[in-house]
Amino acid sequence: MNAAVRAVVRMALFQKLQILGIRHGYNGMMAGEFEPLGASSMANVLQKGGTVLKTGRSHGFMKPEGRDTAARKLKEAGIDGLICIGGDGSFRGAHLLWQEHKVPVIGVPGTIDNDIFGTDTTIGFDTAVNTALEAIDKIRDTAASHDRLFIVEVMGRDSGFIALDVGLAGGAEEIFIPENPITVEQAIEHVQRGVARGKLSSILIAAEGQKPGRAYDLAELIRKKSGMESKVCILGHIQRGGSPTASDRILASRLGGAAVESLLTGHTDCMVGVQNQELVRVPLEHTFGSKKSVRKDLIRLAQILSI
Ligand code: F6P
Repeated sequence: MNAAVRAVVRMALFQKLQILGIRHGYNGMMAGEFEPLGASSMANVLQKGGTVLKTGRSHGFMKPEGRDTAARKLKEAGIDGLICIGGDGSFRGAHLLWQEHKVPVIGVPGTIDNDIFGTDTTIGFDTAVNTALEAIDKIRDTAASHDRLFIVEVMGRDSGFIALDVGLAGGAEEIFIPENPITVEQAIEHVQRGVARGKLSSILIAAEGQKPGRAYDLAELIRKKSGMESKVCILGHIQRGGSPTASDRILASRLGGAAVESLLTGHTDCMVGVQNQELVRVPLEHTFGSKKSVRKDLIRLAQILSI
């Protein structure tokens, strides 16, 4: 996110605009937490995880009164346009701000989940996948040395993008994702097939789904149905931090710059995203109104390669 904020600030300055940062997301907007961002405000942030502006989930902004307050604060501060970096919740809020108060808004997709329709990828996804993959490679050392079965749970809420990429790149034996539900019996059969030919360790990847911790339920089911013991590792919030990959920094820089130029050319109520390497603009409503699909060819490939 820092790389995106930096790009927004520097593109705005290049375009001779004044730019304010909003601290703590929509909560800060309602409280008027605005701060002028100058040329050197974004020094040394490109390589940092998290967001220097800070963020937060906001219940208040989900209510019309909260958005009324936010719109008033924006007006008082002389803000003519808003660039909002976030996921579907942030985009729903931005869309309502435009609809109800005519504040011009541009969304920049920033979520590790990669679950935003209209863009091939989102800021943070590549970093999260690489962080999880590094952990899984390390877990495989123990799995192989001790002949163990591991279930590794990754984030993604109700989408399986992280799990699928990590599973394919990490050579997982099975991948549990909401978009392609496999049964515990299938996973057991797969692991036992490996055991029969002398493969004594396996790693199963589970997307957290609606309920983080489901890897423990899977482990228990596998034990009950097959007697096989497994170790559970929930990667959790380590996937949300750390220095961003080059890919994420480049994506964030491109989208941040495009967001400013979109506002300047009179666009509003849309997200800037990437499709087939090219920058695109997509109506905000589509980004949260349609469900992005995981790639079926990747699911098939992961299954074929994990014999
Ligand atoms: O949406 C991003 C995400 O990291 C999800 O993958 C995860 O389920 C959720 O946020 C965790 O949110 P929180 O840190 O608020 O518990």
